[in-house]
Amino acid sequence: MQVVCGAKMKQLPFMGFVCTIMLFIIYRTTKYQYQQTEESGVDTTRLNSLPRGIIEARSDLELKPLWNSKSKISVRSSNNLLAMPVGIKQKQNVCAIVQKFLSENFTIILFHYDGNLDGWSDLEWSREAIHIVAHNQTKWWFAKRFLHPAVVSVYDYIFLWDEDLGVENFHPGRYLEIVKSSGLEISQPALDPNSTGIHHRITVRNRMKIFHRRVYDARGSTKCSDDSEGPPCTGFVEGMAPVFSRSAWRCAWHLIQNDLVHGWGMDMKLGYCAQVPNLEQTVKRHKLDVRSEIRRQSTIELQTFKQRWERAVKEDGNWVDPFPSTRKRKLKRNSKRSLSKF
Ligand SMILES: *[C@@H]1O[C@H](CO)[C@@H](O)[C@H](O)[C@H]1NC(C)=O
Ligand SMILES: *[C@@H]1O[C@H](CO)[C@@H](O)[C@H](O)[C@H]1NC(C)=O
Ligand SMILES: *[C@@H]1O[C@H](CO)[C@@H](O)[C@H](O)[C@H]1NC(C)=O
Repeated sequence: MQVVCGAKMKQLPFMGFVCTIMLFIIYRTTKYQYQQTEESGVDTTRLNSLPRGIIEARSDLELKPLWNSKSKISVRSSNNLLAMPVGIKQKQNVCAIVQKFLSENFTIILFHYDGNLDGWSDLEWSREAIHIVAHNQTKWWFAKRFLHPAVVSVYDYIFLWDEDLGVENFHPGRYLEIVKSSGLEISQPALDPNSTGIHHRITVRNRMKIFHRRVYDARGSTKCSDDSEGPPCTGFVEGMAPVFSRSAWRCAWHLIQNDLVHGWGMDMKLGYCAQVPNLEQTVKRHKLDVRSEIRRQSTIELQTFKQRWERAVKEDGNWVDPFPSTRKRKLKRNSKRSLSKF
């Protein structure tokens, strides 16, 4: 009996040990699966029906020739993507933007929200672009559906722009040089001081600097100083011309809610997607969007988004807000952190 008891007594700690190991294995496996899913955006661990080596979890937006002809349309390998919602009314401006980016070998994807695709076919570069048509959809709706991180993972930078930006003085290549050398995860080109419709001083070009992360402004109701910790003084990028690094986009895509198509409030959380500090801001809408119905819907969505964020923060005990000052100031306003601007 004693032997049995002894054996049993030994078994307990032994079983405990086995359990611990098993829990650890389960934990590791789960974590590994999670990471696999996260990295590729596709859960390849569940694809047991395919041999591992055949699995292509990623994609790109490159046009491929149907056969190996020397006269193939374009085999240009590109590392950057320009994605824009467009309507035929802005054809001229869109054309100017696209040509600038094409000369820097960007891949172009256009989201036609007015359903007019034929109107673009006379443009020489039209065949080089990818066109997606969906009536009356928004930039964030398109981005959520067609720019999944796994699909755009070949691109170093993603420009998710509005169609009405003037690019006379903009050079995509030089911009990227600055972004890369400064390690900016989320950024936007600065606006010419002459621009109409400037909403935030931080978005205006600072003639003294190549880029800036904050603005100093003692005028008006918002005083911006070195002590300012959030928008509109620092950490702010406008929704009309954001530029994301690959990793920042992977994060931002996950932040876009399927049903909150106007994206309001999301920009205020984008700072969490820039590993260093980051950005923020109000989305500039198309003229159509200014209608009161859309504004009302956007406001409702903003409330919903804020509530979801708060709930997610509350429910995820493992999540730590990397921006301590946000924690402190949370009661004062929904704030965000960070980055830069051109
Ligand atoms: C764009 O691609 C072409 C063809 O590969 C190459 O000759 C050219 O230098 C590239 N331009 C830039 C700005 O990278
Ligand atoms: C899109 O919106 C416009 C303007 O609000 C409207 O006239 C048109 O019928 C809508 N198109 C579709 C397909 O819903
Ligand atoms: C700004 O506007 C003024 C007056 O219209 C013009 O003279 C000046 O060249 C503009 N500056 C830029 C950078 O476009």
